[in-house]
Amino acid sequence: MSKPTAALVFLIAAFSYFLFSPSPKPHYYHTLFLSSPFSDNASIASNLRTLTRRPHVAGSLANAEAASHVLSSFASSSLKPRVAAYKVSLTYPVHRSLSLTPTESSKSIITFSLEQEHLGDNPYADEVTPTFHAYAKSGDVSGPAAYANYGRVEDFAGLNVSGAVVVARYGKIYRGDIVRNAYEAGAVGVVIYTDERDYGGEECFPESRWMPPSGVQVGTVYNGLGDPTTPGWASVDGCERLSEEEVELRGDSPGIPSLPISAADAEVILKSVVGGVGPGPGILNLSYVGKTVLAEIENVIGVIEGGEEPDRYVILGNHRDAWTFGAVDPNSGTAVLLEIAQRLDKLQKRGWKPRRTIILCNWDAEEYALIGSTEWVEDNRQMLASRAVAYLNADCAVSGPGFRASATPQLDDLIKQVAKEVRDPDNTTQSIYESWIRSNNSGVIGRLGSGASDYASFVQHVGVPVVDMLFGGGYPVYHSMYDDFTWMEKFGDPMFHRHVAIASVLGMVALRLADDEFLPFNYTSYASELKKSAEDLEEEMLAHSIDISPLIKSIQDLSTAAQEINIEKEEGVKGALRVREVNDRLMMAERALTDRDGLSGRTWYKHLVYGPSKYDDYGSKSFPGVDDAIDNAKRVKTKASWEHVQHEIWRVSRAIRHASLVLKGELR
Ligand SMILES: *[C@@H]1O[C@H](CO)[C@@H](O)[C@H](O)[C@H]1NC(C)=O
Ligand SMILES: *[C@@H]1O[C@H](CO)[C@@H](O)[C@H](O)[C@H]1NC(C)=O
Ligand SMILES: *[C@@H]1O[C@H](CO)[C@@H](O)[C@H](O)[C@H]1NC(C)=O
Ligand SMILES: *[C@@H]1O[C@H](CO)[C@@H](O)[C@H](O)[C@H]1NC(C)=O
Ligand SMILES: *[C@@H]1O[C@H](CO)[C@@H](O)[C@H](O)[C@H]1NC(C)=O
Ligand SMILES: *[C@@H]1O[C@H](CO)[C@@H](O)[C@H](O)[C@H]1NC(C)=O
Repeated sequence: MSKPTAALVFLIAAFSYFLFSPSPKPHYYHTLFLSSPFSDNASIASNLRTLTRRPHVAGSLANAEAASHVLSSFASSSLKPRVAAYKVSLTYPVHRSLSLTPTESSKSIITFSLEQEHLGDNPYADEVTPTFHAYAKSGDVSGPAAYANYGRVEDFAGLNVSGAVVVARYGKIYRGDIVRNAYEAGAVGVVIYTDERDYGGEECFPESRWMPPSGVQVGTVYNGLGDPTTPGWASVDGCERLSEEEVELRGDSPGIPSLPISAADAEVILKSVVGGVGPGPGILNLSYVGKTVLAEIENVIGVIEGGEEPDRYVILGNHRDAWTFGAVDPNSGTAVLLEIAQRLDKLQKRGWKPRRTIILCNWDAEEYALIGSTEWVEDNRQMLASRAVAYLNADCAVSGPGFRASATPQLDDLIKQVAKEVRDPDNTTQSIYESWIRSNNSGVIGRLGSGASDYASFVQHVGVPVVDMLFGGGYPVYHSMYDDFTWMEKFGDPMFHRHVAIASVLGMVALRLADDEFLPFNYTSYASELKKSAEDLEEEMLAHSIDISPLIKSIQDLSTAAQEINIEKEEGVKGALRVREVNDRLMMAERALTDRDGLSGRTWYKHLVYGPSKYDDYGSKSFPGVDDAIDNAKRVKTKASWEHVQHEIWRVSRAIRHASLVLKGELR
């Protein structure tokens, strides 16, 4: 062989080795994803600092700047980002006043400043939006002050608040439901305050993590999801829109004016109330004027196309807009999303390509009514219904120690598996899983029926499996001007190791969903969850002669179908199309739990197993349709109303039966 020929042979050999050598398995890349050279707490801190420099409420210039930051970070992580923009109805405060006449004979009127004290050294404190409730009704009202505890339905029992201005405290239910409950009880206005018993400590920010006495929790009081002027469809350019009168008629807007107030102001008011409850003699005069604007909002979307199944979507999302600086809510989640983007970029540079497409979404206007995600889901409803594998959410991703997760139950196993692979940032001698099961909530996975964050549209409107994860939980400076970078650096996550850890868990769950040959869904857990929920109903149903056996039977069938498909996966299905067929069954089973007619009277909510409680949007319910019907029957106490409960039992049983037929792939 001549020398050139030998060289040629070598080249061919080398080239064929390159072509035919087995490329690294996904597992190799997944291990890299979790390795310390891949994680970067300094870059997380730097991104969080940039994102939270100025207050960035939806529709503001500062929020557009934050969007550019996300866009360029996505671009430098080779995500080919784009903006999905919508024109939506947002509100801002124009005029607010609150005054108290302490007793009927008193001439001295106390006028509250409604200002949060500038503490610490945040140079942009002046830019914070004046404290208000988004979508609050404009108006001028006055009446005796009446204390209604947490503003729950039961808190109004035995209380006559007719014509009164209700004083309620935050902490148990969604503020929009507090306002609605007060309205339904006959109140003319509401002020909601942050009680030191719930949010205070001996010291407060900036010395400690607790809310200062002047701190105010801002937030929305709208009771629907998405842009109020486009209920059920996307707010695209030139689309159909409801008029203000039509929006009001839908009943999701508050019926009376409201304002959020501080603990300090509430203390003064409650001193003027007889027996601490009232009503009166103190008279409150509340005046609020808001303006409604059609604003452009920007969802930033980045995509990594799948190599083998580009038409299957694993979606990760977090919102960007904040009531104030948003260090916890929501930009701890944004910093985590950018960290995941960066790590996925590093993997791609080592030759990794996901099997399925991964989509990263940074939502806008979540604080107003989950608007950015809801408009996008409504816009892409059919595409998501046929292609979305799962949606993974990060909102207030880090506010302290302690891992928590909520999910639809087929994801329980996967979350636990991944939590075993990541060290607990607060005690590296154990895994997150070990500290989680030793913690107070002992490894319990929450359910996502509530309307508290951007997963809501995915699961409740389309039936996409969802996960939400975080470190911490409720935190005292929530939605106040003290939720800033200093708070995070001093109290939330001083070393940013909790951010790193949540990025590891969330990113790894995404990687498994994107790369595993068989979707890592286990519907056995779903069946056991449903069984527990059904058993919770049993006693009450028996008492009213309602037959829940159809429900029990459908759940047994689901359990069998779940075991069968698990065995099918284990026994090895051969061929790409057959694998794909099994995966489609796993993906579509959640969809089967939705019903095109939706919940009675709340038809946008299509999921019959998980939905929000009618009286607390933050409360998650299993079988919300059944729950609504029971609630109604208890009020009206008629035979027909209890028969309606039976009908709702049948409806949810049919949905669960559909899910098992989908899992079995059975055509009858
Ligand atoms: C409730 O209070 C209003 C205003 O003070 C009063 O007119 C009404 O009679 C009261 N209702 C009951 C049931 O006591
Ligand atoms: C309440 O206060 C406003 C000024 O903020 C005033 O115009 C209005 O007359 C007051 N209403 C009552 C009933 O005192
Ligand atoms: C850290 O975890 C270990 C178990 O691995 C446990 O024994 C120890 O008490 C934990 N330390 C703290 C400070 O919680
Ligand atoms: C855990 O539960 C115990 C007992 O109920 C309680 O004293 C403790 O404060 C809880 N810890 C946390 C972190 O909530
Ligand atoms: C990142 O973690 C290291 C220790 O692992 C720590 O020294 C450093 O201060 C952290 N960086 C930030 C920005 O907190
Ligand atoms: C599915 O979950 C059940 C518990 O709900 C567990 O016993 C079973 O091993 C899991 N199956 C697979 C394949 O992971």
